[in-house]
Amino acid sequence: MTTATVPPSSQHITASPRVQNLLTKLHAESEAQEKSISQFLFYLKRLARYYLFSETWSASADQHMRDKFVSLEPDKCQFLYLLARSTGARNIVEAGTSFGVSTIYLALAVGQNVTDASSALASRTGGPTAGGKVIATEKEPTKAARAREHWKQAGSEVEPWIELREGNLLETLSVPDSLPEEIDMLLLDIWTPMALPTLEIVRPNLRRGAVVIADNTTFAKPLYKEFLEYIHRPENGFKTLTIPYSGGLEMSVYLP
Ligand SMILES: C[S@@+](CC[C@H](N)C(=O)[O-])C[C@H]1O[C@@H](n2cnc3c(N)ncnc32)[C@H](O)[C@@H]1O
Repeated sequence: MTTATVPPSSQHITASPRVQNLLTKLHAESEAQEKSISQFLFYLKRLARYYLFSETWSASADQHMRDKFVSLEPDKCQFLYLLARSTGARNIVEAGTSFGVSTIYLALAVGQNVTDASSALASRTGGPTAGGKVIATEKEPTKAARAREHWKQAGSEVEPWIELREGNLLETLSVPDSLPEEIDMLLLDIWTPMALPTLEIVRPNLRRGAVVIADNTTFAKPLYKEFLEYIHRPENGFKTLTIPYSGGLEMSVYLP
């Protein structure tokens, strides 16, 4: 009897073998970078510089990260995909796209949610189809170009559902009337000083019950100080908890 080879993530996400294989390859490349001594020393140095000089980020840190994936780990990405599927999220903002790995999961979920919503609409009214997209953001042109390549390789399950805004997201997300009226999910996977300013830009468009995810909030807790204080302040309208994924993954639900 022969045993079919099932890609490991096929239990968690719905995607073609081509997308599954691409994800396996991209995660392996990212993991190899993250496990290197130089990357470990880089993170240690960031924390040390915070404690010694209150420095949260720097131009040399940007330079170091320019060729790094720093993609979310597969289990976090699978969780995001299932969260987006379970909530029917059709409008997602991703703060920090890098080479576009987590974006692939979000785009799969959005595409599948739009298809489900469109079928439901068509069967009820025979009428219009639903819309949706992932708004991805990346300030480094070389990273944006790599992300586009990966989405092209992923193909029609993924590529059509992404709008990449290239440049500083403080500007690209602030263009008047350029965000969907109701955003279902915000992923904050960005250098920590950007977390709170990004949330402040997107918050007016978060729908009631929208989910905000921030990565690495336990490991980088001191660097997230202002963001964590903000989401814990009751008047800001969030209910929040830390999921014990590696480094901590903060999940906040907007219930103003
Ligand atoms: C941790 S990585 C994102 C990883 C990605 N979410 C994934 O899982 O594959 C963070 C990215 O945010 C980008 N970034 C940092 N500051 C930015 C800003 N102000 N505007 C847009 N992108 C920014 C960095 O260049 C970096 O590529």
